[in-house]
Amino acid sequence: MYNQLQTDWENQDELLQTAVSASSQFLTMISERPVAPKPACVALKDLPEAGLGAADALHLFRAEYEAGMSASAGPRYFGFVTGGATPASLIGDWLTAVYDQNPTADYDSIAPHVEQEALHFLRQLLHIPNTFSGSFVSGATMSNFAALAQARQWIGQQQGINVAEDGLMALPPIPVLSATPHASSYKSLAMLGLGRQAICTVPTLPNREAVDVDALAKLLQTIRQPAIIIASGGTVNTVDFDNFRAIGALKEQHNFWLHVDAAFGGFAAASPQYAHLMHGIEFADSITIDAHKWLNVPYDSAMIFTRHPELQTAVFQNAAVYLGGVGDNPAPVHLAPQNSRRFRGLAAWMSLMAYGRSGYQEIIERNIAQAQWLGAQIAQSDQFHLLDDPVRLNVVCFTLAGSPTMTEIKDYLARLQADGRIFLTPTNYQNTPAIRAAISNWQTTQADMEIAWQALKDLA
Ligand SMILES: Cc1ncc(COP(=O)(O)O)c(C=O)c1O
Repeated sequence: MYNQLQTDWENQDELLQTAVSASSQFLTMISERPVAPKPACVALKDLPEAGLGAADALHLFRAEYEAGMSASAGPRYFGFVTGGATPASLIGDWLTAVYDQNPTADYDSIAPHVEQEALHFLRQLLHIPNTFSGSFVSGATMSNFAALAQARQWIGQQQGINVAEDGLMALPPIPVLSATPHASSYKSLAMLGLGRQAICTVPTLPNREAVDVDALAKLLQTIRQPAIIIASGGTVNTVDFDNFRAIGALKEQHNFWLHVDAAFGGFAAASPQYAHLMHGIEFADSITIDAHKWLNVPYDSAMIFTRHPELQTAVFQNAAVYLGGVGDNPAPVHLAPQNSRRFRGLAAWMSLMAYGRSGYQEIIERNIAQAQWLGAQIAQSDQFHLLDDPVRLNVVCFTLAGSPTMTEIKDYLARLQADGRIFLTPTNYQNTPAIRAAISNWQTTQADMEIAWQALKDLA
């Protein structure tokens, strides 16, 4: 055996202790470090001929790169929709690497069962009916992709065509209707050969991002062929929700697949106060839920829920004798894009088991209250303008006073990033250059919100 490998093996226990102490140093200081240090321009190193061994490799990494890590797992990283990692999910993720399972099928380990249990916990937390089966994927983009692949298969089935077997060629263009789809739905359609242009944008309600259901009904009337509807639960700028019940009612007259992208807004269902936003979810054919957002498990993790496992298998089956046949109870390898993959469900299982329904309800309600508090400060300030008043859920969408250009917004965000107290990302809301603050971290306290508000005012 190569000498460094042999030595590392012999010292594995000590190496793991070193990693524990490095982890705990990083995590203890996470709220003190610059939230999103702008990466320096660094030349690529060459592969060493003789390896350094794990201890020196870790030492070198920490010395050269650790300062450049963002505090995205910390309490004041408000960019995108970035959850942190709860202590239990971190343990789950660490052990995922230790166990190094490949949960494609249930013939060599209990890991697929644990994932099914985690999905069952999630159905219970988010009030997703048991008629939906779930699978783990790497993120909401992959989940949207997997859902729309099933939708494509369904459209083919309506017209007597098996797209998974015979390809797309035999199909006429597929109408996809949506009011405010996430960018990843366009990407998914591009990957699926349906094309970004397939989306027909449906009008929204006045001053909202939610679909105008009457306008949607009129469009469906003109289409007269099976369609795909992508609904939002909720949107990235204002976390607006489409009315799933009203859309579902249209199924009585029209033939469509309803996909709900509830990547982070789906967690509203964990709070009795906000659960109504997800009412009607039972009308969905497929649902996207992200775990590395509001579930606060480490990257990467998401779920696809479907009411049509047979279509899922039709698309994703990977029949090979050595992997096991599809059978009556298809293994995970036949249900999602990836074959081999990490035991992603363990972090979610650990965190859901550790904090339960009330733990998650507390995180969700605290983050919403924090976003609403920030929204209220912004609404009263003459330095800013709140664009969606009152704040609906956990995202505050606002802009600088006056009519700032996108360059001015980006300059302001760059100053905030250099200041280091908070990190926020730009957006465009109804043609207004704007800013989003997405509060989705389990660690965020009121003190963090006050630091954030002070930073926003100081740099404006
Ligand atoms: C509503 C929605 N859908 C999909 C995505 C894509 O998620 P991911 O980056 O996990 O692929 C996001 C990410 O912000 C989102 O907010």
